Amino acid sequence: MNILLTLALLASTGDDLVLADFEGRDYGAWTVTGAAFGSGPARGTLPNQMPVSGFLGKGLVNSYAGGDASVGTLTSPPFVLERRSLNFQIGGGRHPGETGINLLVDGKIVRTATGRDDERLEWDGWDVAEFAGRTAVVEIVDRHTGGWGHVCIDQIVQSDASMKSGPQIRDVTLELPFLHLPVRTGLPKRRLQVSVGGAVVRDFEIELAARDPQFWAFVDVRAWKGQTARLEVRGPADAGTALEAVTQGDELRGTDPLYGEPSRPLIHFTSRRGWLNDPNGMVYHQGEYHLFYQHNPYGWGWGNMHWGHAVSRDLVRWEELPIALYPARFGDWAFSGSAVVDAGNTSGFKTGAEDVLVGAYTSTGRGECIVYSNDRGRTWSEYSGNPVVKHQGRDPRLLRHAATKQWVMAVYHESGKKQEIAFHTSPDLKTWTFQSTIDGFYECPDLFELAADGDASQSRWVLLAADGRYRLGSFDGREFKPDGPKQTLWHGNFYAAQTFSHAPDNRRIQIGWARGTDFPGMPFNQQMNIPVELRLRSTEDGLRMTALPVREIERLRERKQTLTPDGAAPSGRIGEAADLELSFRPGTAERVVLDVRGLAVVYDARKKELSSKRTAAPLAPIGGVVRLRVLVDRGSVEIFGNDGRVALSVASMAVRDNLSFALRVEGGEAPIESFEVWDLQSAWK
Ligand code: FRU
Repeated sequence: MNILLTLALLASTGDDLVLADFEGRDYGAWTVTGAAFGSGPARGTLPNQMPVSGFLGKGLVNSYAGGDASVGTLTSPPFVLERRSLNFQIGGGRHPGETGINLLVDGKIVRTATGRDDERLEWDGWDVAEFAGRTAVVEIVDRHTGGWGHVCIDQIVQSDASMKSGPQIRDVTLELPFLHLPVRTGLPKRRLQVSVGGAVVRDFEIELAARDPQFWAFVDVRAWKGQTARLEVRGPADAGTALEAVTQGDELRGTDPLYGEPSRPLIHFTSRRGWLNDPNGMVYHQGEYHLFYQHNPYGWGWGNMHWGHAVSRDLVRWEELPIALYPARFGDWAFSGSAVVDAGNTSGFKTGAEDVLVGAYTSTGRGECIVYSNDRGRTWSEYSGNPVVKHQGRDPRLLRHAATKQWVMAVYHESGKKQEIAFHTSPDLKTWTFQSTIDGFYECPDLFELAADGDASQSRWVLLAADGRYRLGSFDGREFKPDGPKQTLWHGNFYAAQTFSHAPDNRRIQIGWARGTDFPGMPFNQQMNIPVELRLRSTEDGLRMTALPVREIERLRERKQTLTPDGAAPSGRIGEAADLELSFRPGTAERVVLDVRGLAVVYDARKKELSSKRTAAPLAPIGGVVRLRVLVDRGSVEIFGNDGRVALSVASMAVRDNLSFALRVEGGEAPIESFEVWDLQSAWK
């Protein structure tokens, strides 16, 4: 290679180039041989393996698939060496040449590294300046069948400097409530520790940006006002530059006003900063609906699981509060869980005059853990006897079983290949006794009783898990006995829903995570679904659960448009968020299509099917009539058919200035019975 080009390449300083972070479901363009690497990246520790730690994100290469005895290779597609240093995280066996990672140029191994007989991944890497501009491949090998016969690799990154270098440090005197951290999605994840008085108080991974941040994440440092915080990050030199960019402020830092960002949903809950997934700890207490949620405060993608927290008095307007649960330590994350009001103080956790809130969550390092709050959910304490249940599983759902006067924990449990919900009972939320399991449910259970057709004497129990599909049955406090097959209510972007414990007036109010609602370029990502009220209704198919947006949403309704005096459907402009109600007789039509902000909501009269984009649900007319309710927002459309007999959640980024709507009947006549359209005002105003 030409010497000038080499010099030019090496002189170039540039962003780090991530060759692979192994966050996908499969290995993409990488080639696998043998069985050791499985069919795709592992999500952490594999069965019978000692705990694997230190890797960043969710996935990594882990050749322990099939145990130590299995062998194989994993080879990257060819790539060009464009930076001085090729870095990676490595753990697993120390068998040079047999378990490790190689760099090949022209088919020859030019660099090699092996593990340290340790399941913890550490940064390692090579100076590859002499190969600048050359095409190379990385090969990860496991050829050892005895003890420590496996390798773990993550985060293969080209950068201008080695990641092995020692920590970069910055000391900051904490004067203001928030530290602002520059973040850009796609940069390598670095571990950042914040220490005060020598103790690590915050410890997380972050895509720290030395320049051009996509947004500013924040650390709430009010607890240490006036003290000196040490920020410590491991990584190449530009991590130090990024630390220099950290600022302090009274408010969150950003270019757009908070909640006024161009793609911020107007009627759906989003976090002010960072990622959210599952709703957690949903409980009604003293006039407030509490919504906790799986939260990465420091990134746009999943990671660093905390419990974020927001409260609402009306299910429409939410106020975000400080983070409720921090991870116990790096790698021991606060996964999903639930909360109840312990009105009888069975737990003995109550300290003041107010009822105590008790929560259960999965600590990924310990098991199912109990926390409690004596200040209306603002701050939480760990029960000293944690964990209370240890098993392979997660996502404890607490509930009060009135008939047997005990607490129940429904929790996702894995036994071998079986995916089950396990039921445990307790008199005091502290000691738990295993009772039974039911097979065929995956993650995030919810369990509650619903009156059939409003008649409490005819109530049934509903059991569901993360995909929202439910079974009706009976529950005696110990065992769930289904009396029918699984049913589907929700279709599309809807996952890991929960219902509020102790909602007033016996309402059963559910909020799901609208999984897959991406907000590119925004300082936040993902949204919750609109809160819905669940009911159990007799239908032509038997008893079925229905979902309709809570009536409180109607408070956001503004301008109304309706059928013209001669019965023509309105069309024209709607608000960025809008609420549309429509009923029609499919008659001789083939399709009735409602276009909202560029998205088609289609009723196919031949197939008797309601659909939008790739989400579809069966829906037959009732008495010849189809009824639709459509809620549109900046990032989604939710559609409720026949008074909530089916519910569809569709992720769809609306074009900002497309505010059109129109109704179209194709292939025949479909008399419109009613059509009402409201603009909705922002819930954040
Ligand atoms: C479901 C889930 C839960 C887990 C949480 C972690 O989306 O995988 O099972 O507790 O997310 O964020």
